[in-house]
Amino acid sequence: MNEIDSPESEVICDCTGTTKEKILSLIKKKADLDKISSTTGATTGCGSCDFEITRLIEQHNRSD
Ligand code: FES
Repeated sequence: MNEIDSPESEVICDCTGTTKEKILSLIKKKADLDKISSTTGATTGCGSCDFEITRLIEQHNRSD
């Protein structure tokens, strides 16, 4: 299962416990990666969630 199809309760950023639901709610408010990072702390730990969050942003923008 990839991050696009995963449930909204899935934790995307293990370092901060940030869920997909939280990230999607920020994306819907037009938050970019920097804004998501500063709001949730995601990507500020190990950084491995960077790619997944970028994909979620791109997926959302494509569906706009
Ligand atoms: S998983 Fe998000 S910073 Fe480590």
